[in-house]
Amino acid sequence: MTSEREQVLHSWCVQADWDAPTIVGGEGARFRDDRGREYLDMSSLAECMNLGHQHPALIQAIQEQAGKLCFTTAAWGAGPRAELAARLLEKSGFEGGRVFFTLGGADANEHAVKFARLALGHPRGTIVTRHRSYHGATYAAMALSGDSRTLAQVDPTRHGVVHVPPPYAYRCPFGTPTEEACAQAAVHSVGAALDAHPDAAAVLMEPDAGTNGIVAPEAFWPGLRAEARRRGVYLIADEVMSGFGRCGEWFAWQRHGEAGRPDLMTLAKGLTGAHIPLGAVVLSAEVAKKVEHQMLYTGLTYCGHPLACAAGVAAIQAYEDEGLIERSRSLGAAMFQELQALKERHPVIGDVRGGHGLFAVIELVRDRATREALSAWPSLHPALQRLVEEAREGGVSFAVRGNLILLAPPLVITEAELGRALALLDRLLANGTWA
Ligand SMILES: Cc1ncc(COP(=O)(O)O)c(C=O)c1O
Repeated sequence: MTSEREQVLHSWCVQADWDAPTIVGGEGARFRDDRGREYLDMSSLAECMNLGHQHPALIQAIQEQAGKLCFTTAAWGAGPRAELAARLLEKSGFEGGRVFFTLGGADANEHAVKFARLALGHPRGTIVTRHRSYHGATYAAMALSGDSRTLAQVDPTRHGVVHVPPPYAYRCPFGTPTEEACAQAAVHSVGAALDAHPDAAAVLMEPDAGTNGIVAPEAFWPGLRAEARRRGVYLIADEVMSGFGRCGEWFAWQRHGEAGRPDLMTLAKGLTGAHIPLGAVVLSAEVAKKVEHQMLYTGLTYCGHPLACAAGVAAIQAYEDEGLIERSRSLGAAMFQELQALKERHPVIGDVRGGHGLFAVIELVRDRATREALSAWPSLHPALQRLVEEAREGGVSFAVRGNLILLAPPLVITEAELGRALALLDRLLANGTWA
């Protein structure tokens, strides 16, 4: 008799507390366990199943590729790899650029840093990122992340990383009163950090919502780009979570047009809709040209794995065929409106952020007037834990972190399903003991 609970080491939890049902299948926005219970997925599991569960076109693409060629290294060519790179450059408008494939988001961010440093000739150049950010859980990615949960394990200064305060307008670390002023102050603090580090190679941040639940004010990203450009420093957009329709565009920076274009961007999650692991770094033509004749002392055995790249090609086709980017934008706007109505009804909701696509964050507070946090970050208030458990019993799976409820359903969720999940959330917020 095997026991996952006793024999597997699970990530991001206390082992003794892990006691989850076994998932055996799914379809669309729903997945089900081995007891036949079905859950409506309001977080795309780890904000990654943008295409829903068991997407038939992805399954077919992986099966067909497996029948032809499972693997070859980067020392040899592979058709799906070339095709996926071309499609990513086309979708991002990075004409003349290049794509480096990785296994997921953390190693994509680490490689983006390597390429930025290599291109600028500062092999250990400083990288500016922000506090309360998450860029992955390998050591260098943890150093990039300004995540209090993992900073005890790593010294960012030894990785050449400097953290600046985030553009968290609801609790502006610069004490400014408006979103615009908070964005401006946050941009200036990046500029100051760059000035203090003449060897700076890049600024690495998320262009929109992310794990930390901070949605930057509109002016932040274009301001950041201008600040980096002015100093000849590269801007790396971590699109691991925000890409592939999550924020209503193929890539979240595209909402700002050319004024938001980064020099490099990193991808994972929605790249294959999590049907198989894959990450990527997309380099602009300028960066690609600078590394063109330099030796790349890097690479992982499975970089550009044909099965994963075939899934990536099929995923892009599915986003297109099903109009999922536009769908995320319109359904996301409707969801955001509904969340504003929930805020009217429930004093425990302090702030609702997002709404550019099917991504929104609800921040819970003890007192709306003082904005006192419901519990100290990153601890979970017992009532929020109970809400998650009761939602599961009601057949809906919500993701929560600290005082935040993150809503990021698969882009294929139906309006009826979304309505059902939000109605349940409404009831559970009303029933909760939030004192
Ligand atoms: C913004 C962001 N960057 C990077 C990562 C790391 O990706 P992975 O878990 O595939 O290494 C994540 C994962 O949640 C993420 O949300």
